[in-house]
Amino acid sequence: MENFVFQNPTKLIFGKGMISHLNKEIPQGKRVMVTFGGGSVKKNGVYEQVKKALESFEVIEFWGIEANPTVETLRKAIQLGKEKGVDFLLAVGGGSVLDGTKLIAAGLLYEGDAWELVLQGRSASAVPMGTVLTLPATGSEMNSGAVISRKETAEKYPFYSKYPVFSILDPTVTFTLPIHQVACGIADTFVHVMEQYMTTPGQSRLMDRWAEGILHTLIEIAPDIIRKQDNYELMAEFMLCATMGLNGFIALGVRQDWATHMIGHELTALHGLTHGATLAIVLPGLLRTLREKKLAKLVQYGERIWGINKGSEVERAERAIEKTESFFKSLGLATRLNEVQIGEDTILEIEKRFNARKAAYGEDQDVTGTVARKILENCK
Ligand code: NZQ
Ligand code: ZN
Repeated sequence: MENFVFQNPTKLIFGKGMISHLNKEIPQGKRVMVTFGGGSVKKNGVYEQVKKALESFEVIEFWGIEANPTVETLRKAIQLGKEKGVDFLLAVGGGSVLDGTKLIAAGLLYEGDAWELVLQGRSASAVPMGTVLTLPATGSEMNSGAVISRKETAEKYPFYSKYPVFSILDPTVTFTLPIHQVACGIADTFVHVMEQYMTTPGQSRLMDRWAEGILHTLIEIAPDIIRKQDNYELMAEFMLCATMGLNGFIALGVRQDWATHMIGHELTALHGLTHGATLAIVLPGLLRTLREKKLAKLVQYGERIWGINKGSEVERAERAIEKTESFFKSLGLATRLNEVQIGEDTILEIEKRFNARKAAYGEDQDVTGTVARKILENCK
C-alpha cells in the first residue's frame, strides 16, 4: 500500500425529509446564494422544501447552471455574488450544479477571470458551500472536484477546490429523474469505481473488496432502478454507492487510472454527450486496448464480479470486458462510437488535443495521444 493522507470533512445528512435540516447547517446571518439548474427542482418539490428551510436567511437565487457547467454561465453568478456580498453557497441539483458552485465559491474570492482558476487546476480558497443533491452519479457531494466547460473553445477540464461543508441526500428527490439520467448515473458510478480499482492486484485487499462491494451492489440493483426509479430502498442504496464511489474511501493507498474519464470529457466537450454515456463507450474500448497490462486485475474482476472462472487468463479477461459492455447495454446505453455517430475526425481531434497538452494519463501515465487514439479506434 502506498502512503497517503486522508481527510474528508463533508458532513453527510441522509434520508427522507432531511432537507428541513438546512437551517441548522448554515450559520445564521449568512448571505446565502442558492444555485440551481434548469428547473427540475420546481417539479419535484425540492425548491419548495429548500425555500421553506431557508426562511430565516437572506437568500439570493441563481438559476440556469446547465449540464456540463460552463464558465460563461458561472462568471455571471460570480459577478452577482460579489455585488451582493455572498458569504455562503448552497448548490441544489445534480453534479453539474454542484460542480459549477464549486467554481463560483472559489471565484468569489478571486480577482481574475474564473477560467484562469480552471486552468490552474485548483484553488486553495473558497467561500463555504453546502449541497442538496438530486442526482446520484458524480460524488461531487462529498469530494473537492468539479469539471468545468468553456463553450467558446469546446474545452472541459477538472478543477479542485474545497469540499462541501455538508451535503443533504434525500433519495425521494431522485424519483423524478429521467431513466436516461439514472442509466448515466449508474454508468458514472460504476466507472468511478473502475478507475480506482482496475489497475493491478495485490495493492490492498480492503480497497479491492470495498470497490467490489460497490460494483456488486450496482449490478444487483440496476435492473430494478432502470425500470422504475421510485423504490426508496433501492434509490437509497444507489445514492450511497455514488457517494462512496468517489469520496476518496476506496482510493486509500492504491493507484488510480482516470484515462476513461479524460477521454470521455473530450467526447462531451466536442459533441455534448452526457458524461455517463461517454464512459459506457470509452471504458470497454480502454480495457480492450490495455488488456495485456491490466490482465491480472481483469481476471480478478471477472472472477469476483462476474463469476468467470474457466478458460485461459486472456479468455477470462475478454469475457469480463464483454460482461462490462453488456452491463452498460442493459442500461440502455450505447457502447460504440458509431452508435452515437462519432467518427474518425473526432478521434484524430482528441489525439491532437492530447498531444498538444502532452497528456499522459492512466496509472502509469502511458495513455498519451497515440494511445488515446488506439483506445478510441477500439470503441468503434
Ligand atoms: O438542470 P435541471 O433542470 O436540474 O435538470 C437536470 C439536468 O438536466 C436533471 N436532474 C437532476 N436531478 C433531477 C433531474 N431531473 C429530474 N429529477 C431530478 N431529481 O438531470 C440533468 C443532468 O444533470 P447533471 O447535474 O448534469 O448530471 P450529473 O449529476 O451526472 O453531473 C454531470 C457533470 O458532473 C461532472 C461531469 O463531467 C458533468 O459535467 N462530473 C463531476 C465529478 C466530480 N465533481 O467529482 C466527477 C464525475 O466524473 C463527472 O465528471
Ligand atoms: Zn464520472
